[in-house]
Amino acid sequence: RRGRGFLRWSWRAFYLSALGGVGYMSYVIYILRTPDDQFNPDPSKKTLVILGTGWGSVSLLKKLDTENYNVVVISPRNFFLFTPLLPSCTTGTIEHRSIMEPIRNILRHKKATVKYYEADATKIDYERKVVHINDESEIKGDTSSTEVPFDMLVVGVGAENATFGIPGVREHSCFLKEVGDAQQIRKRIMDCVETASFKDQSPEERRRLLHMVVVGGGPTGVEFAGELQDFFEQDLKKWIPEITDDFHVTLVEALPNVLPMFSKQLIDYTESTFKEESISIRTKTMVKKVTDKFIEAEFTKPDGTKQLETLPYGLLVWATGNAVRPVVKDLMSQIPAQKDSRRGLSVNEYLVVNGTENIWAVGDCAIANYAPTAQVASQEGAFLARLFNSLAKTETINLELASLSNQQSKAPNPAARNEIFENIKALQKTLRRVKQIGPFEYSHQGSLAYIGSERAVADISWLSGNFASGGTLTYLFWKSAYLNMCFSTRNRVLVCIDWMKARLFGRDVSRE
Ligand code: FAD
Ligand code: NAI
Repeated sequence: RRGRGFLRWSWRAFYLSALGGVGYMSYVIYILRTPDDQFNPDPSKKTLVILGTGWGSVSLLKKLDTENYNVVVISPRNFFLFTPLLPSCTTGTIEHRSIMEPIRNILRHKKATVKYYEADATKIDYERKVVHINDESEIKGDTSSTEVPFDMLVVGVGAENATFGIPGVREHSCFLKEVGDAQQIRKRIMDCVETASFKDQSPEERRRLLHMVVVGGGPTGVEFAGELQDFFEQDLKKWIPEITDDFHVTLVEALPNVLPMFSKQLIDYTESTFKEESISIRTKTMVKKVTDKFIEAEFTKPDGTKQLETLPYGLLVWATGNAVRPVVKDLMSQIPAQKDSRRGLSVNEYLVVNGTENIWAVGDCAIANYAPTAQVASQEGAFLARLFNSLAKTETINLELASLSNQQSKAPNPAARNEIFENIKALQKTLRRVKQIGPFEYSHQGSLAYIGSERAVADISWLSGNFASGGTLTYLFWKSAYLNMCFSTRNRVLVCIDWMKARLFGRDVSRE
């Protein structure tokens, strides 16, 4: 009897917590779908222009008290993209819309209105304090280029793909930075597979079409190679068995090993996992030229001599890191203090662009001695939000202090003067607290990368040491960490559904 009673209570507790969960989710969805009314900030406040809607800018927007400034956001991309899961979109494990969050939703939930213009910043005129913007989208109105004046400017435009001027790269390869890149890769994989299966295709041409080459052994290249091999093993091979013998993934890297930012133990683990997965790794191989059907690469032999090789390919994915965007290069050329910067805008410890007073830079376009990662960009954005909130508060308190001092000098009696004096003291104390904002300090949480066949590698900062791990448990950690980091509850739900869909029904092998 006691056992049955316990069971009944357990069921009741289960129903109650399920009901609580559903209630909470409904509340979250209700809040998300019904934003409060917004007010327009005082036009006399400063105009803060933010360029970009990536990790740095969105993290700033998330924490910024928008009632303190007239905020204007300019970006050609009207959504935030959760880049860590972008490699999964190339094979359809995750649908791209699941990792996109509309910027309009983000801005509509701020207390005060924020203006958004879907445009590229084509030039920042430092002297005149204006940004030239251009609507590069397909549909254009009568006005498609204009100027936006600023009092304060945050540059968060990220970086573009590095090609090092290698001939043929831009014309023939796919990059992996934006949603459009992932969609193009997904299409091309299936195009190569179907073309290889075309009637009377020669064996040599089949092998070329089914050779998937990834250049760059950084985390982007490694994660993509792992995802692609998974797609082949778990789905392609099943539905199109005739490609089994010829499908092959090769990762080309100029340095002696892949994933240089990870510990030696994890580099070895990644390389041995790739071997097991039948992904070829060609290290010490520098690509020099790309044509529509093959790449030319220089291989350094163990004795130091060089050998030129030709690798035919069907799909080529180029993932060799970052380069500076033209708008950033142009700004650098206007500021004498930036003349020695090569990789981006050099900034001081408060992220102010060196040589300027009213321009800050965050993320991949700023050079602050940290790796160009989402982790750094989002911490920089959050730091700037705190800084700007504090600057605005300081300004308001200073105005209040000036007004109180004025009142004090005109106070009718000592009691009133004393009361004002006490108020001034309290405000000065608040001011000291508000002003206490130290320089930006990056806190490294660790590095994570998916390496295929449900394994991941992780170098986690733990207390004051480092904890390295690789394998299936790390993969589960990778999954839960990235799910947790997704921008919104909506993104989390969609990503979970995509993972379940891929597991239940397999990935979709149709070409859009
Ligand atoms: P971005 O996020 O690139 O945003 C730049 C923004 O500026 C975009 O909105 C863009 O549209 C806009 N923009 C571009 N040009 C202009 C212009 N002229 N005018 C106005 N706006 C403009 N980092 C990690 O820490 N962990 C990871 O797991 C990880 N995975 C990644 C996976 C992939 C496939 C890639 C490509 C990168 C990954 N990164 C990861 C790196 C991370 O995405 C970047 O470091 C991060 O996006 C940098 O943030 P950002 O704000 O500087 O730039
Ligand atoms: P990367 O700069 O990390 O790696 C590029 C690699 O390409 C280098 O190892 C370089 O030696 C190689 N390379 C350059 N030119 C070459 C050539 N001609 N031939 C052959 N190899 C060549 O670039 P990646 O992977 O695009 O990453 C960019 C940034 O984003 C990095 O800071 C990275 O840490 C971050 N990122 C982090 C991820 C994670 O933490 N999981 C995932 C993806 C990116």
